[in-house]
Amino acid sequence: MYSIAIDGPAGAGKSTIAKKVAEKLGFIYVDTGAMYRAMALYFLRHDIKGDDEKKISEVCGEIQVSLAYKDGEQQVLLNGENVNAFIRTEEVSMMTSDISKYPVVRTKLLDLQRDLAKRENVLMDGRDIGTCVLPDAQLKIYLTASVEERARRRYKEQIERGISCDIEKIKQDIKARDEQDMNRETAPLKQAEDAVVVDASDMTIEEVVARFLELYRERS
Ligand code: DC
Repeated sequence: MYSIAIDGPAGAGKSTIAKKVAEKLGFIYVDTGAMYRAMALYFLRHDIKGDDEKKISEVCGEIQVSLAYKDGEQQVLLNGENVNAFIRTEEVSMMTSDISKYPVVRTKLLDLQRDLAKRENVLMDGRDIGTCVLPDAQLKIYLTASVEERARRRYKEQIERGISCDIEKIKQDIKARDEQDMNRETAPLKQAEDAVVVDASDMTIEEVVARFLELYRERS
């Protein structure tokens, strides 16, 4: 099996790029952030606070996260319910960053992620894929972009979806998430030693996709 690990900070364009590259290569795209988001949604729905590690540990056993693929699209199932439509809000984003620092949450998803990579050629994105989930991935890419550029893109995306928002607030949220994801004790966001860095600040989507494909060809 061939695995491509993509890590990087919030809003760098990982999922947009990963989806396109996976399609071109005929790989399965695994968005691990969506799995953490599904767990965060469960806690939000049950009024459990992001800093209540005790309660989170207690209820973790009640949660089942799985993935399904329909028409090439990843669906994340929370106890059997497709929750794709509910996991992209800012509230869920922040909660996800809060709860993904707990080992009990991470352990739960780790086996599922590794299992997928054992069975399929995958292009998996997240924060700890190259460093922790798939340390033996044949290709590791650390995709990043400046905070300004990431905020600008997220703002545009939200406006296009008809959601009104404030770019300064988006920038602050991105910084807060970066800070939290990079400084947690368990599996923090970090560039793997053998990862190739791609800084997409001044690149178009097509250019980034082409760069990924070039890196893949060099290594296969
Ligand atoms: O990639 P994303 O924005 O959907 O991720 C949401 C949050 O989930 C992110 O702030 C940190 C967490 N996450 C993680 O800790 N490990 C991963 N492999 C993927 C996401």
